[in-house]
Order: sequence, then C-alpha cells, then structure tokens
Amino acid sequence: MERLIVVLPGDGIGPEVTTAAVTVLKRVARRHRLSLVFETLPFGGAAIDADGEPLPAPVLARCRAADAILMGAVGGPKWAKVPVAIRPEAGLLALRRELGLYANLRPVRPHPALLDLSPVRRERVEGTDLVVVRELTGGIYFGARTRTADRATDECAYTVDEIQRVTRTAANLARARKRRLVSVDKANVLETSRLWRETVSALMAREYPDVAVEHLLVDAMAMYLISRPRDFDVVLTENLFGDILTDETAALTGSLGMMPSASLGDDGPGLYEPIHGSAPDIAGRGIANPYGTILSAAMLLRHSLGAESAAREIEQAVDVAITAGVLTPDLGGTARTAEATVAVLDALGQPETLAA
Ligand code: NAD
Ligand code: IPM
Ligand code: MN
Repeated sequence: MERLIVVLPGDGIGPEVTTAAVTVLKRVARRHRLSLVFETLPFGGAAIDADGEPLPAPVLARCRAADAILMGAVGGPKWAKVPVAIRPEAGLLALRRELGLYANLRPVRPHPALLDLSPVRRERVEGTDLVVVRELTGGIYFGARTRTADRATDECAYTVDEIQRVTRTAANLARARKRRLVSVDKANVLETSRLWRETVSALMAREYPDVAVEHLLVDAMAMYLISRPRDFDVVLTENLFGDILTDETAALTGSLGMMPSASLGDDGPGLYEPIHGSAPDIAGRGIANPYGTILSAAMLLRHSLGAESAAREIEQAVDVAITAGVLTPDLGGTARTAEATVAVLDALGQPETLAA
C-alpha cells in the first residue's frame, strides 16, 4: 500500500534538516519494503514568498490527504514585518489547528555520549527518559487577542473536553511506560489551571486508576526538570507551558537540535517536526544538526505508519552515529549536516538488506 508523506521544509535550516530526514526515510523504507511517496510543498515564509500566505489552501488540502506530514521549521527575520495573521508561525498554528493535532509528544532521552554537553551535571541527567505531552490546539495560543496603543490582552481558555482528550493521550502513553503521570499547571493563580487540575484528577481516578498521578506547579517544575529529571516519566501540560519546558529539557540532551516531536489528533495525518526553529544564525551553512528531524521521522513511522521496527532502526542508527562521534557544531563537533546524515545511513546498513 502506498503511503503519502507531505514534506514541508519551511524556512532557514528547515530544508537542510528535512532533506536529511527524507534521505533516511527512503533508505529505511527500502529495507522494510514500505512504499512511501514524498510530496514537498511550500510552507511558512517560503509560501509567503511564493503565494502570499504561509499555509496556502492547496497545501493544506494535500496535508489532509497525506498519511503523515514531515515539517522542518518556519519563520525568520525576513518576515518580521509581515502582518501577524499571515506570519510563518501563524501558518504552523493554523496547520496544527486545522488538522486537530491536539497532542504534541516531545520525548527527552539524553544520549549517554552527550551527557557532558548538558549544563546539568552528568550524574543528574544520566538515565533521564521522559516524554512531555503538550496540549497543542488550545490555551493562550488560540485565544482572542486585543491591542490598543497602550494595552494588550491574550485570552487563555480551556474546555473540559480539550483537557480530557489530551489527558487520555498522556495516560495511554503512561500505561505503555512506567504508569506515572505528572500534570503541570499554575493552579495557585490561573482559573484555566484549576479546571485543568480538577479535570485531570477526575478523569485519571475514573479511567486510569492504575496510573499514578501527581500535580506540580509550573514554576517548581521548571526547576525539577533540571534538578531531578530522572524522576519523571510522562509529563502532561498546557500549550504555553509545554513550549517553554521542552526548550528547557532540550538543554539536557545537549542541543535544541536533538529533540523530535509528534503532533497527533484523533484521526487523520500526524505532523512530525523537530522542536527547534529555523535557526537563522546558521541557516544555509550546511551545519544544522539533523538528528532531531531524523528522530521525528522515526516517530512518523511509529505513530502514523505503524512501522515500529523501522522506527527503532532509525533511533538505533542515530545512537550509533552519535556514539561514533559524528557531531555537528552545536554538539561540539565539526561534522556537517550531510556527514551526520551519512553516518546514520551507514549505521542503517544497505538498502537491499531486508531487516529482520
Ligand atoms: P531556534 O530554535 O531557531 O534557534 C535557537 C538556537 O538554537 C540558535 O542558536 C540556533 O542556531 C540553535 N539551533 C536550533 N536548531 C538547531 C539545529 N538543528 N542545529 C544546530 N543549532 C540549532 O529559535 P529562535 O532563534 O528563537 O527562532 C528563530 C525562528 O524560528 C523564529 O522565527 C521562531 O518563531 C521560529 N521557530 C519556529 C519553530 C517551528 O517551526 N516549529 C520553532 C521555534 C521557533
Ligand atoms: C514550537 C514553536 C512554535 C510554538 C512557534 C513557532 C509557533 O516554538 O513548535 O515549539 O510556539 O508552538
Ligand atoms: Mn517552541
């Protein structure tokens, strides 16, 4: 059966890292006899330049028709003066919302060979293996905004239904892992957080009595994630807190360039993207770290194509490449994006060798 993968390279280093991930996907597809068809389309600033808007209707239509979407990154100084409603970032938010991708999985698994790159002492990071489940289509990202000359507002709203569905995603994940869920909020101040906490508590007691639940305030969690990251398994939180906390956890992995993500809804295609941005400071130089995007491609195989063994093969190949010391400059090395990609391909083995 043919599977359609829509590739949205986007801006800055986006095309560099998606090229790497597509190369790896093609190799794995041949080894596992998966029939993947790739369609690369303009998105973000690139689409603004070509069509005047970041998410053109035909691109959205192809995304809807796809089995999965692989995205690089969007945005950059070039589009800073574009009206906010049609900035590259607005296109990404619209894509997530239009496809109903309410659950964003961001795994944090620092590689043993990179522990000394973390600003946190190795003995505190070693063994960290957690997943942040970030609510992705609600909260302050999507509330009404107002602006006058001297006042601005951003509404943060959540409904019980929005909280319940992402809680189920996190709880199901916890069941497949260590059965421990930490829900993060700001219930000592925010009404949305009080609804969040009550809703998570009630649902977990009713539907997941076998999963241990703990509620933590986001300011304390920001500290715990670097002082005792090994204590966490599945971390559930709202949109804005999840955005901020996962860039923090990226520091545990050695670089923002290491972190993959999967954005999932109830049905339809998933969206897979590294958590980093377009990195305008290094764009076009061929030195971007492709591992986060390659690992996102592994998540694509796992969550959208049900190809678990192919996904594992990619993850193991990335592990091997890193262990071998093939590191881009953000990881303290001198490897170029293409060299890191080749190291992953080499670790995968030959295309004609069918994996067991
Ligand atoms: P950024 O993630 O682009 O970069 C932050 C720092 O990390 C930079 O020093 C960059 O060089 C480095 N970095 C990030 N990814 C890297 C990689 N793969 N390899 C090596 N180094 C890497 O964040 P920013 O500079 O705050 O934002 C730049 C633009 O990206 C903004 O327009 C922002 O809105 C956008 N952005 C987009 C996404 C997305 O598309 N999902 C995510 C975050 C930021
Ligand atoms: C991310 C990014 C996006 C977000 C931006 C670019 C809209 O920071 O994917 O983490 O805030 O969700
Ligand atoms: Mn972010």
